Amino acid sequence: MHVLSPREFEITYVIECYTHLSTCVLSSPRGSTKTAGEMRSMKAVVCKAYGPPESLVVEEIEPLQPGRGQVVVGVKACGVNFPDTLIIQGRYQVKPPLPFSPGGEVAGIVTAVGAGVDTVKPGDRVIAFTAYGGFAEEVRAEAAALIPMPDGMAFDIASALVMTYGTDIHALKDRARLQRGETLLVLGAAGGIGLAAVELGKVLGATVIAAASSEDKLAICRQHGADDTINYSTEDLRERIKELTGGHGVDVVVDPVGGSYSEPALRGMAWNGRFLVIGFTAGDIPRIPLNLTLLKGCSIVGVFWGSFAARDPEHNQENLRELLGWLQEGKLRPHISARYPLERAADALNDIIQRRVTGKTVLII
Ligand SMILES: NC(=O)c1ccc[n+]([C@@H]2O[C@H](COP(=O)([O-])OP(=O)(O)OC[C@H]3O[C@@H](n4cnc5c(N)ncnc54)[C@H](OP(=O)(O)O)[C@@H]3O)[C@@H](O)[C@H]2O)c1
Repeated sequence: MHVLSPREFEITYVIECYTHLSTCVLSSPRGSTKTAGEMRSMKAVVCKAYGPPESLVVEEIEPLQPGRGQVVVGVKACGVNFPDTLIIQGRYQVKPPLPFSPGGEVAGIVTAVGAGVDTVKPGDRVIAFTAYGGFAEEVRAEAAALIPMPDGMAFDIASALVMTYGTDIHALKDRARLQRGETLLVLGAAGGIGLAAVELGKVLGATVIAAASSEDKLAICRQHGADDTINYSTEDLRERIKELTGGHGVDVVVDPVGGSYSEPALRGMAWNGRFLVIGFTAGDIPRIPLNLTLLKGCSIVGVFWGSFAARDPEHNQENLRELLGWLQEGKLRPHISARYPLERAADALNDIIQRRVTGKTVLII
């Protein structure tokens, strides 16, 4: 397995590179103006106006050229993430100039390198975070932002691994300091962040309670190691936590969902518990009565993986190296529930919006 150097993990690759917008803007999809001899184009899913997934179009557009310090990656697979559903609606903090392609987590092969790039070469297999532009046959990325793909890793897995597991290892180890023998509750446990947290919780020696909205989703969680489950559509979350922990409460909560689930989970915490705030897929950002933290002697802990990786790239590199080691040992089994071609990008995005995804969805290009 390739050992990742600090250079390879320079800060720009992380989610915070979602702010490095100018580096991955698509060439304008004006249609090809090339002569027959030069004719080459690439296919991309294009957002021309903010709207629902159905408003995306698939077009042939001009191929990309790398700028200084950049590479062009021939995309083999692109992980579909919750922010992709927001960015096309103009509801994400990153607002690329129209037209653009969504898709920020890709795995593929370097096809061209720009001036000043000596860390990678055409033919190298890489993972790249590009903020957007990944729902396409090619994407432009900063060379310093690339993660080399370990030998033997499949492109679909590579495009669906780092953001979720990278966030969760940081959340559980660095932020919550999860201890062997503690009890971990994971909300939205069958989703991307959720299922990775279930697996990592088990690797770190916790008893894992998975909470999700359907029995099918909970069955997947059990297959990935969950010890107990709560169906929060049909069961009282707080009461079930009490029941499953014999009144002790849970030591750590992973919350990528927010909305009406957060407060009952916090009320089900043990003394000295750590509640990890990761995301708000339910839409509402909960307003928690602070007296609960006093009464329970517990902490509410924010998690922002992108910012962490930008501030402490070497620590993030260590985390990712550990993850890849566990993957190689078979301790982690990333779950991809659906693979779609580019033409069905709207279906992939609707799966996320309609809560149909378990683990991850990937576009195969
Ligand atoms: N803080 C960080 O550093 C960081 C890093 C990566 C991702 N995130 C954030 O973490 C969140 C989860 O990401 P993910 O990749 O796990 O997403 P995901 O795969 O779509 O899973 C989210 C889960 O949320 C639940 N959910 C509840 N209400 C929902 C609704 N109205 N719409 C959609 N899902 C709903 C669903 O589970 P049930 O149906 O079982 O309720 C779903 O499985 C996102 O907000 C993402 O931006 C944060």
